[in-house]
This record gives sequence, structure tokens and C-alpha cells, in this order.
Amino acid sequence: LMAEKGGYRHFMLKEIYEQPRAMADTLAGRIREEAGDIYLEDLNLDDETLRSMDKVNIVACGTSWHAGLVGKFLAEKLARVPVEVDIASEFRYRDPIVTPRTLTVLISQSGETADTLAGLREAKGKGGKVVSICNVVDSSIARESDGVIYTHAGPEIGVASTKAFTTQLVALVLFACKLGRVRGTLDENECRLLGEELVKLPRKIEEALEQDAAIEEVAKLYMNASDFLYLGRGNQYPIALEGALKLKEISYIHAEGYPAGEMKHGPIALIDEHLPVVVLLPNNETREKVISNMQEVRARAGQVIAITDLDDSLVRDNADHVLTFPGIRDELMPVVLSVPMQLLAYHIAVLKGTDVDQPRNLAKSVTVE
Ligand code: AGP
Repeated sequence: LMAEKGGYRHFMLKEIYEQPRAMADTLAGRIREEAGDIYLEDLNLDDETLRSMDKVNIVACGTSWHAGLVGKFLAEKLARVPVEVDIASEFRYRDPIVTPRTLTVLISQSGETADTLAGLREAKGKGGKVVSICNVVDSSIARESDGVIYTHAGPEIGVASTKAFTTQLVALVLFACKLGRVRGTLDENECRLLGEELVKLPRKIEEALEQDAAIEEVAKLYMNASDFLYLGRGNQYPIALEGALKLKEISYIHAEGYPAGEMKHGPIALIDEHLPVVVLLPNNETREKVISNMQEVRARAGQVIAITDLDDSLVRDNADHVLTFPGIRDELMPVVLSVPMQLLAYHIAVLKGTDVDQPRNLAKSVTVE
């Protein structure tokens, strides 16, 4: 079994460390920098059809839904198309608005999640076009879709999704670029620049993994907390949700993800000296706003763990711990900052002695409603 785990103590840790390779496989053959374009071999929708879409619905469950929330930022920014993101079990029962000009994107690692498959059938039944982002080749969702973007992350055994998630994010960047090129909202040069950054991503993730020991130290300090709050703004809000979900799933500690700016509308009441607050702080235009949210936490004695790509005195003065990660274009920062979310949850779970790869009450794929 140790051999199957490639020498790692758990499949989850192995899969976290496989991410640079997994992402390189997601990208392989799909970026033509010289052409300033993206090639998605199994998308199966011609440019004319893609151009005619006036709305995108993204439908998924759990971690894949979090990827979808990032996908909304990507597609709206790069392709200027309105995007709605739904939890599959909600989408299927709300008589969703789908026309022949609606593109529904299903995201599923396994390709077998019952609610996501039902969402696909709902969208298809209403005459819409359907594309899926799947990891498992020839899975039900992949087979029933008009087109598919495979993540090519390789088998994911740990119940807590890691490499499937980050490769879904990469696939969504590719998809948003493709849509942007076809719709004329992303020019050749911008697409080329994004492609160049995507190619650097596996190396950036390797660098992020070098922070493993520093994250483990923080895990030791907070492993006995009974609640965690995760804060992020913009495209990092879904990463805050994902960080909280990872922690809940494998350490059984209650955690909530919140948009940082929404804190004062309720969750601020929870803050006291016992509450660790994980703050996603990329170096972008919202940085100062997030730092003022950190000040609000500390004014109430909450413990701030800042996850950032810019370690300066401003963050030092306003955090109890600063974990620093490599910077990259803002569209790709959710991928980089997913790594500390995974490792923090992993180390806390190991310290608590839970069954990391097979957490209680959970199944790898939920094939019943
Ligand atoms: C992730 O850690 C979870 N185990 C779970 O939320 C999962 O992402 C969800 O069940 C969706 O699975 P799928 O991607 O295979 O459809």
C-alpha cells in the first residue's frame, strides 16, 4: 500500500504533491502560444455555436462547485458573457432558464455525481448545449455531454478532492480563454500572455509546496480550535469556501468560508481569542480592503493567519502568522492559494489522527441523490 501511495503517508498528500504534474497534463497540447489561441480537442462545439451563446450556466457539487464559482470570474472577465453558478441539487429542481443559446457547463471529477448528471439532462432536455469538465474519461457525464474538457489529473483516491480541483481551475482558464477568443473579447496577444503564465503554473505550485513545513507549524498551533473562519474576496472567496470544506471534511472541525467584506454583516459576532481566521490576501486591487478586514478581526482578539504573495510590513503588522506563496497573474492566483488550503487541512487532520483518505460519512462519488 505504501508503494501505491508513492512513499507518501496518505493518498491525499501524494495527490497534493502530484499537482504540478497534473496541471502540466491539463495544459498539454492545448496552448499554442505562437497562434495566441487555445485548443480544446473534445469541445465539439464549432466557433459559430460558441459565439451564439448568450448565457453560461455552471452546475456542480461540492469542491467542483467551488471551481465553478471561480469559473464565473474567469468567463465574465475574459469572455464578457453572463455566468450563473448553481449547486446541481438546486439547479435540477428550480425549472432553470435554458434556451438553445444557453451553454451549461457541468464540472465533476468523477463524472458520476447523480445530481450533476440530472442537471445535465435537465439542460439538454430544454434544448441547451452542454459541455463538461471531467477527470474520469468516459464517465457518464462526459459521455452525455456535447463536448468535454478532460482535466487529465490522473486517478484521485483521497475522498477530499485536491488535484482534481486545481486542474478544474486550469481547465476553466482554458475554457474562458477559448470563449473569449471566439467572442472577440480576448485578443491574440492577451491570450498569448495568459498562455505564457499558464505554462509557468506547475513551477509556481512546486514553489508553493515548499511552504509545507511552515504550514505544518501553524497547524500545530491551531489544531485544537473548535471553529475556523476563512475569508477571501473576489476570485479568492471560492478558495475560502474550499479551504473551509477541506478542513470540515478531514479534520471534523467546523469551518466557514465568507467573503471578507461581508464579515461585518454577521460573522464578526463570532470573533474572540479562540477563533483562528485564515485570510486569503493576494496582491491585487482588493488588498487594502482585506487588510482592513484583518484589522477588524484583530481588534476583537481573533488570530489572523494571512496567506499572501506579498510579505511586507503592512501584512506583518496586521497578522499573527504570514505564509508567503509565489505570485502570478490574478486569474491564476486561486490555483496557487489552493495549495495552503489543502496542506493546512491535511496537517490538522493528521495531527488529530483522523482517517484522512476515508473520512467518516463521506463517499468519493455521490451516485445517489
Ligand atoms: C470534495 O472534497 C468532496 N469530497 C465533494 O464535495 C466532491 O467535490 C463532490 O461530491 C463532487 O464530486 P464530483 O466532482 O466527482 O462530481
